[in-house]
This record gives sequence, C-alpha cells and structure tokens, in this order.
Amino acid sequence: MIELRIRLLQKQEEIPYQLLLLADPSKKNIDTYILGADIYIAEKEEKIIACYVLKAVNSNTIEIKNIAVDPANQGKGIGKILLNNACETAKKNGFKNIIIGTGNSSIGQLYLYQKAGFSIINTVKDFFIDNYDEPIFENGIQCKDMIVLSKTLEP
Ligand code: ACO
Repeated sequence: MIELRIRLLQKQEEIPYQLLLLADPSKKNIDTYILGADIYIAEKEEKIIACYVLKAVNSNTIEIKNIAVDPANQGKGIGKILLNNACETAKKNGFKNIIIGTGNSSIGQLYLYQKAGFSIINTVKDFFIDNYDEPIFENGIQCKDMIVLSKTLEP
C-alpha cells in the first residue's frame, strides 16, 4: 500500500518544474497556465513524487492542465490515485465537469484517462505543432493534435 499525502502547494514553496516538464516539455507554456492555477503535490516519505495542476475554465468546468509522476514511481497506480483526487477536489469546489487534454500520440495517457471515466469530446487540430517550438514524437507517432476528454462530476 502506497503512503501518499496529497496537498495543495503553498505560495512560498518551490514550483516542481522537474515534474511539470515530464507532462509538458514547454516551460514557457507551463509558466503561462500555472498563473492562477492550483498545484497539488503528492509526497511519499516527505519527498515530492507527483503532482497535478487544476485551473478553472469557467464556473462549471475545471481543467487538469498537468499531471505527472516521477519516473521511478510510475506504473504503481499513483497516476490513477491523482486523477481520482483531482476529480474529488474539483467536485468539492463546486465544479460540474473536469476536462483534460493530451496528445494524439499519448496512447498510455488516453488509455488511463478513459479508464478513469473520461470521454473524448473534442480535438484541437495541430495544437502541438502551433504551440511548441520543437516537434514531439511519442510511441513512433508525431504529436500533432490535442485530444480533449471530459468527465461529469456526479454530485
Ligand atoms: N502506457 C501504457 N499504459 C499506461 C501508461 C503508459 N504510458 N501510463 C499509465 N498506464 C496505465 C497503467 O498500465 C494502468 O493500467 P491498469 O489500471 O489497467 O493497471 C493505468 O494506466 C494507471 O497507471 P498508473 O500506474 O496509475 O499511472 P502512473 O502512476 O504511471 O501515472 C502518468 C500516469 C501520470 C501518465 C505518468 O506515467 C507520467 O507522469 N507520465 C509522464 C508525464 C505525462 O505524460 N503526463 C500526462 C501528460 S497530459 C497532461 O498532463 C494533461
């Protein structure tokens, strides 16, 4: 059983860029969306090993802008725990829907999000070509389009 403590990062604490960059290779983009967003961190034995970022889209919908687990702790169910925690946090804060966007090439992430109850609602064509300086390749596929998934938060 993993002993995880998930909590909101305080303003005076250091931003966990090393983790955030695992999910989003552009520091420039990260710096844009973390303004006004909430960063949640997961600690194991007082070490930060994972995080997620929540940002309101409007009064009903909130977005998971970034979710990352440090490589040594991936594949142990922490991503699933973080997704559930993000949904619970969003629900507690009165949101009705939660959305998450990922690349067309992020096969494992698309599997994880759909398994957690998210459904594809939209595709933003060429998002990763238009917004990133360097081409991104994953699983032998170029990451071009953003796939947006949504989950309704049951009251
Ligand atoms: N490939 C295949 N399957 C995967 C992958 C993958 N890359 N990642 C997770 N899964 C599957 C697991 O096999 C597991 O399946 P199961 O429930 O059938 O056993 C399920 O998804 C849950 O896996 P976890 O162990 O909970 O996932 P993990 O702790 O590794 O966290 C995460 C997943 C956050 C994607 C992590 O691998 C990571 O940090 N990756 C790098 C950063 C990243 O890509 N973040 C997401 C970008 S999109 C965004 O941030 C909005």
